Amino acid sequence: MAQLWGGRFTKETDDKVFAFNESLSFDKRLYKADITGSICHAAMLAKQGIISDEEKESITKGLNSILSELESGELEFDNKCEDIHSFVEANLIKRIGDAGKKLHTGRSRNDQVALDMKIFVRSETDEIEELLTALLKVFLRRMEENKDTYMPAFTHLQKAQPTNLAHYIGAYVEMFLRDRDRMKDIRKRLNLSPLGAGALCGTTYPLDRDYTAELLGFDTATFNSMDSVSDRDYLIETLSACSMIMMHLSRFSEELIIWNSNEYRFVEMDDAFSTGSSIMPQKKNPDIAELVRGKTGRVYGSLMSILTTMKGLPLAYNKDMQEDKEVAFDALDTVKDCLALFTGMFDTITFNKEIMAKSAMKGFTNATDAADYLVKKGMPFRDAHSVIGHLVLKCIEKDCSIEDMSIDELKSICDTFDEDIYDAISLKTCVERRLTKGAPGAIDESIKRYREII
Ligand code: ARG
Repeated sequence: MAQLWGGRFTKETDDKVFAFNESLSFDKRLYKADITGSICHAAMLAKQGIISDEEKESITKGLNSILSELESGELEFDNKCEDIHSFVEANLIKRIGDAGKKLHTGRSRNDQVALDMKIFVRSETDEIEELLTALLKVFLRRMEENKDTYMPAFTHLQKAQPTNLAHYIGAYVEMFLRDRDRMKDIRKRLNLSPLGAGALCGTTYPLDRDYTAELLGFDTATFNSMDSVSDRDYLIETLSACSMIMMHLSRFSEELIIWNSNEYRFVEMDDAFSTGSSIMPQKKNPDIAELVRGKTGRVYGSLMSILTTMKGLPLAYNKDMQEDKEVAFDALDTVKDCLALFTGMFDTITFNKEIMAKSAMKGFTNATDAADYLVKKGMPFRDAHSVIGHLVLKCIEKDCSIEDMSIDELKSICDTFDEDIYDAISLKTCVERRLTKGAPGAIDESIKRYREII
């Protein structure tokens, strides 16, 4: 077994201990971040006169060849190495000899792994931000197409008031815009380089930490060496923001599953995004939406896992922190997959506009507007509410909608009613006259704003 710390030990590590302790099987995903970090560390060591320029050249060449051979598949990870850091260093020494042994000068795996994870998570937040933008663009297009698609909006999953589909989708646009802001915000706080913190208390070599920070695209170097190696806040923040993304995806998935049900039939999923049943030939199931909803659990789980791992850790590095990787990788992969799949599904979904509009006309979604009509004729709202309540009861008895009542029937309940009631409670009026900021009638303004910021 190729250990970095052989000198002090007189025995080989027990096989089971090695297997329990190793992380190469999963942290190999950090190879690019690790090699990039090492190249910049070597450049800084040379700039500071700690290693020679020739040694730096040789290290850089060696590391670049490891990188390209790993990417082409020519070089395989050696599972006798404990982790990605050991693997890269051992392989470098094999290639270039003594110069390779100088790479780790003034560095510890503690600041190295802290750096690798930050570089990795930073690019993941960038990818997630892009995926969110792609989803938002699809939402915006579907909003533009559906300004006149009337539908019921619900509270308690009971029909409440009518709206248009653009307005409905707009609610999710707001959620995912906040998610995108959160990603940008996390990236800002994350973008300080821990490299040069050493094992925990810095080093006596004259390292230029701000130089490596700049080479690696960080805004600056971190300010406390102990915090540098023991901080995983950025990861917890990322997983928290990812959990929120999943919560939003899951809510919309739930709605689409309901809308896709035989009872609602508001939407039809594209065949490419549905699956069938092995026994029931008639079935077309919304599996993608269900899986997105289901996978939310494992992303929440990763957040809980790391929060719990971190809660009892004294400063500074503790091996417990190695547990951050598998769950974080899994959660980030899951969120990216779910965002991409949901985007494809929503891009291709068909909205059954007629069924949606018909549904909006049933269930007294215009009852509030009928009460408002009476208020505009001078009646106090509480009285109007009661009049319309009685009217609805009558309609339920007759199995009809408010607009199906004749003017005489309406007048028999309240003589304030006039012919203009029918126009005041038509679906079009109910939706389009709701002109308050953020309401369905003001949808053009919302769309204009989204066009600018998405
Ligand atoms: N594999 C370790 C991790 O993921 C790397 C850091 C090891 N440091 C140490 N002092 N053992 O956390």
